[in-house]
Amino acid sequence: MSRRPQIAIDGPVASGKSTIARLVADRLGYTYIDSGAMYRALAWAARERGITRDQKNEAAALARNIAIRLEPVPGGGNRVFVDGAEVTDEIRTLEIGQLASELSAVPAVRERLVAMQQEMAAGGGVVMEGRDIQTVVLPDAEVKIFLTASPEERARRRQLEFEQRGQQVDYEEVLAEIKGRDHRDMNREHSPLRPAPDAVHLDTIGLSIEQVVEKVLAIVKEKCG
Ligand code: DC
Repeated sequence: MSRRPQIAIDGPVASGKSTIARLVADRLGYTYIDSGAMYRALAWAARERGITRDQKNEAAALARNIAIRLEPVPGGGNRVFVDGAEVTDEIRTLEIGQLASELSAVPAVRERLVAMQQEMAAGGGVVMEGRDIQTVVLPDAEVKIFLTASPEERARRRQLEFEQRGQQVDYEEVLAEIKGRDHRDMNREHSPLRPAPDAVHLDTIGLSIEQVVEKVLAIVKEKCG
C-alpha cells in the first residue's frame, strides 16, 4: 500500500502555521508535527547547560546526545519532552525563540533534527510545519504550502498569543523580534526559510483562521484527490 500524503506548511514566525497545521491535521485525521518545537526544545536544553549561541560545537554535541520527543495531543498541539522531562510550556518564551533561531543556524544541529523529523514523517499522514519542511525535510511532500502575512500583522497576533497565556509583552519589542528572526531565518546559509518552487503561496492577511483552513483543505483535495 502506498503511504498516506505528507503536507508541508512553512512560513515566517507567527504566520499562523501552527494553528493552521493543527486544524488541518485534525480535520484530516493526520498527525501534527511542530518542527519548531524541536529547535525550541534544543534551545531550552542548551540554556539549562549554559550553552550560548556562540558555542556551536557544544550545541551540535547536545543535539546528538539529547532525546527530543513530540507527543501529539489529539485535536491539539504537541507535548514536548527533553530526555523524558516535559518542557511544553517552558519553551514558549521570546528568549527561547531567539536562542532556537540562533542555534538552528548550526548545520550539525539541523542535520540531527532534520533526520528525526524525516523519521517521524516517513509513514505519511502528517502535517508538518516549520521553515524548511518543503525544501529540505520533506521535498517529496504531496502538498507544500507557504504562508505569509506582514510583520506588523504577525506581531499583533503574537502579542495576543502571549496575552492569552498571561504574559504581557510590548508590541514594538515583539515586532523587532519578529523582524530580527525573519532576517536570520531567511538569510542563514543552511536551509534558509524560502518557498519550494512548487509551493502554493497563501497570504493570510484579512482571512479568518477558518478561511485559511478551508483553502488548505481545498489544496489538499486538489493535489491528493
Ligand atoms: O516556529 P518557531 O517559532 O517555534 O521556531 C523557532 C525557531 O526554530 C525559528 O526561529 C527557526 C527555527 N526553526 C528552523 O530553523 N527550522 C524549522 N523547521 C522550524 C524552526
